[in-house]
Amino acid sequence: MGVFVNVKSFGSRHAAVSTSVLPAVLGADMNVPLADGTMAPFANFDHAATAPCLEAVADAVNTFLPWYTSTHRGAGTLSAICTAKYEESRITVRQFIGCRPDDHLVFTRNTTDALNMLARIVPEDTTTIVFAHEHHAGLLPWRDVRTLPIQSDVDGVLTALDGALAEIGAKALVVVTGATNVTGELLPLEELVAITHRHGARIAVDAAQLVAHRPIDMTALDVDYLAFSGHKLYAPFGIGVLAGRSDWFVAAEPYLRGGGATVNVGDDPRDVEWSLGVPRHEAGTPNVIGAVALAAACETVRTAWDSLIPYESVLLTRLRTGLAEIPEVNELSLFGLTEDRIGIVSFTVDGVDPGLLATALSVEYGIGLRQGRFCAHPLTRHLLRKSGTPGSETAVRASLGLGVDVAKVDRLVDAIRTISEIGLRMLYVTQDGTWWPTAVSVSSHDAGSVH
Ligand code: ALA
Repeated sequence: MGVFVNVKSFGSRHAAVSTSVLPAVLGADMNVPLADGTMAPFANFDHAATAPCLEAVADAVNTFLPWYTSTHRGAGTLSAICTAKYEESRITVRQFIGCRPDDHLVFTRNTTDALNMLARIVPEDTTTIVFAHEHHAGLLPWRDVRTLPIQSDVDGVLTALDGALAEIGAKALVVVTGATNVTGELLPLEELVAITHRHGARIAVDAAQLVAHRPIDMTALDVDYLAFSGHKLYAPFGIGVLAGRSDWFVAAEPYLRGGGATVNVGDDPRDVEWSLGVPRHEAGTPNVIGAVALAAACETVRTAWDSLIPYESVLLTRLRTGLAEIPEVNELSLFGLTEDRIGIVSFTVDGVDPGLLATALSVEYGIGLRQGRFCAHPLTRHLLRKSGTPGSETAVRASLGLGVDVAKVDRLVDAIRTISEIGLRMLYVTQDGTWWPTAVSVSSHDAGSVH
């Protein structure tokens, strides 16, 4: 039976949501061993890195597996079915992100692969504009790039972009995340698209974080390119997407050179006629299982937005409110703590090394989250400096999604409170940046690190 959570009681405008109407994920009831030899239910707060697998995705993959054989190759009946399933999956994913009829949608390995593909198809005379707040996938792939400084408010982002485009002009590609993977804060996509197009340039959105938390419609938003991963949308199996205006795909060199991307190869193998369509950039045997998984995830999430968004809003408000009541906790924020965001909270706890904190949460409480600089080193450093966190070079990050519930959020907040007020239950050693529990602490007030 589902549990009702009332969003209104946490200051949100949404009504109560029953967990029974939410799509189920695998592993939500997993028990894990703790350092003291007991077991605890695992609380997974690492959705921003990799979300668990939806049951609907596992079912779709299991149903499809007996049919699995070669795709886009082979004359057998199962090959024809696999090929049809792969292309049907593409249509489902196109619908999920609101592609325009003439957009290309290329399957990739993940968002990083998709943005690297975009970097390869950008015309040579085009300058890419990024903000230093981007995840490394959005920050690093570009050949000719103008990197704009991190801004501390949304207006600053808009003004800085307008200024850069005024200088560079129409031969520009703006690359921006929909929601930052460090703080969950949303970027003002509508305004960024409007400014970009006013200058005649194009804009690509890194939707890696946004895609599992908010609907995206490329047509309505008028965004030129969109990249995201299956593994953050509850669909493992190594698939991602780059979708957008077809002309750059058609004009560019194939992303990979090989079978499947060609129409004909002459006796002299330098004499190649490359495909002009999507296959041009999908050389090699395609990831049909990944495509089936992603399509199932898109269908499931598409029909669940009405419950998913308010449910996550409850959890996020409860988590942030709980953490805000612990004086030692410093939440990181790019534009300010009141800005709209998805379910990601990065923070430090005074007096506790973030690596030690993450290890202790895992081995003492069965809570999994990420610590570090989150593949967004410039942004994380900036936020740590801004938060005035003394001496910390990393933070911990709790990220939410399906499979998290109110009880798990409360366990996380209680664990942080206990660690802040009383201390750690174990003694730890650290080697090469990794923390290991060594013994149960004699007194939890004395517990902590042994270097
Ligand atoms: N980009 C992923 C994260 O933020 C891996 O954790």
